[in-house]
Amino acid sequence: MSPNLYGVFLEDINCAVDGGLYAELVKNRSFENENLWNPQRADHWEAWKVNSRDGAAVTLENAEPLHENSPTYLRFTLDAGGRAVISNQGFGGNALKGGIPVKAGEGYDLSLYLRFDEAAVKSGASVSVFLCGAAGNALSAPAVFAPDGEAGSQTGWRRYRAVLTADDGAGALLRLQAQGQGRIDADLVSLMPLDRAGRDWPGGGMRGDLAAALEALHPKFLRFPGGCVVEGTYVRSDAYDWKLSVGDLLERREIPNTWGGMLTMGMGFYEYFCLAEEIGALPVPVVHAGLLCQARDVKDPPLTLDETRQYAQDILDLIEFALGDENTEWGGLRARMGHPAPFDLRYVAIGNENWGAAYFARYEILSRAVHERYPDITCIVAAGPVAEGGLIEESWAAIRRRFPGDLVDEHYYMDSSWFPAHADRYDKYPRTTKVFLGEFAAHEPLQGSRRPGNLYAALCEAAYLTGVERNSDLVEMCCYAPLLCREGEADWTPDLIWFSDDAVYLTPSYYVQQMFSLACGTDLVASEMDGNIYHVVTRTEDELQIKLVNLSDEASPVRILLDGVPDQQAAGQVLTGEKNHVNSFARPDKVAPRDIQAACAGGRTDTTLPPRSLTVLRFTLTGSEKTAE
Ligand code: AHR
Repeated sequence: MSPNLYGVFLEDINCAVDGGLYAELVKNRSFENENLWNPQRADHWEAWKVNSRDGAAVTLENAEPLHENSPTYLRFTLDAGGRAVISNQGFGGNALKGGIPVKAGEGYDLSLYLRFDEAAVKSGASVSVFLCGAAGNALSAPAVFAPDGEAGSQTGWRRYRAVLTADDGAGALLRLQAQGQGRIDADLVSLMPLDRAGRDWPGGGMRGDLAAALEALHPKFLRFPGGCVVEGTYVRSDAYDWKLSVGDLLERREIPNTWGGMLTMGMGFYEYFCLAEEIGALPVPVVHAGLLCQARDVKDPPLTLDETRQYAQDILDLIEFALGDENTEWGGLRARMGHPAPFDLRYVAIGNENWGAAYFARYEILSRAVHERYPDITCIVAAGPVAEGGLIEESWAAIRRRFPGDLVDEHYYMDSSWFPAHADRYDKYPRTTKVFLGEFAAHEPLQGSRRPGNLYAALCEAAYLTGVERNSDLVEMCCYAPLLCREGEADWTPDLIWFSDDAVYLTPSYYVQQMFSLACGTDLVASEMDGNIYHVVTRTEDELQIKLVNLSDEASPVRILLDGVPDQQAAGQVLTGEKNHVNSFARPDKVAPRDIQAACAGGRTDTTLPPRSLTVLRFTLTGSEKTAE
């Protein structure tokens, strides 16, 4: 069996990353917010509000910015004794709706860049920053920032930091109050909980509860950062450029997210690599192929073939960033960012949901460049966005002819019933070219534009995964999509993990992924079964794993004959319920696996599979049977 079969796909869709996994609490922290579809209507003030101005102007400026990649910043222009107050409402809306979720007694890392002009330095102007409630009531003591030297030596951009401690748990606003005389500029205003994962990463880190939910899946790989996110809308200007996602935060360039909002790049490629390493997963970066999502209204013609040849260097540089030693240009950057050792990069996906002659011509140039320089790296080639029909058949024919040694990325989102009906899909594939099932999910009939998930959809995925496991000599990797969804921000359903500002719930599909991932063996064991139960049997040296899926509404008694397995109480788990059961913030555990045991005596186990259930049984192997077939 593939050692890397089950993984996760992390894309910033549904506010999964900015406003989700990424620990930043300030929305539009760099005032770079853009409008993807209508640049003229960009709202650089998004999430910010000017609360009051007395003898003061508050404007957004572009001249001499903090960094060329972050051109817009905030300016307070204060007359003598002037005072201005502005606030940020975070990702939760204004304080009445939810604001920034702060907890009583908890500390928050505050960081911002300020620039005081000479008049501001001379007048002793300052900026106070504090947390406040909807009525302007302070929820923390202020941090007061002022230049502390002579005018002239204090007039450039400088980073200021403090820890704010919340007095009360509430939806808060982050308030900046400027006073004095002169000009004060501000940019990259950031607030993150002290209690977070990856706090020493240059990007700042992650929400601990969401990172833990990913880790608990025990994923063998992490596909990132998209999805359509890598493709952008204008290939020459805002397609995802990994180089602009690394280095110091202020050097990174925010770009509009294809799914709405902005990608702050606080979770950039370095952080994704670190996350993969932290959760024991192989990194699987995806880069665009010089042409954008062909299924969308694309605004730009593809890169020309000459442009594509030049762009190949970016992909080689990415590999150097991951694998190069400290003396190389990009390996050196990785080391300076805090990771001198190389990352365990083995795969690069080139293109997301692409197909056809224009794609394969560009893929050929890009993958050849990778193969020539890094023969040990496996390139992943896209087969398009559908499970069946001419498009994917033509993709496969072209790939088998031209790129047979590469891994083929299939994506499909189908009705629940499709999955069990096609559990034998990979039985029929030729064994020459391997598959990466990079995106899949089952859904129930559409409700408006929403594709609902529930227990039944999850069990249909489980039935399908028995077929995937049976064919894991061919299917090297697979991952459900999408992974994360912030309540109220669903661009796409169903999703594996739902969260709000302070809560997380896991879906039945999450538990299916977890139960399969935790009980995945190293070898497939030959098995036969009568009846309508989907099943697969695998083993490691010490354990035999049996997965059984009963989709029917009837309980199903089963007798399992296990040659040579010693007598024991086998441990296991079962996931069951009504077809339409879902979890929710109110009832997060309505559908959850429960532990079971099954007696094995004389090489025989009798058990009953509940209606609508996934059962996983694990038998310990102790003696001679360890080597038995
Ligand atoms: O997973 C959601 C989206 O589905 C991905 O961005 C894209 O690759 C696919 O269309």
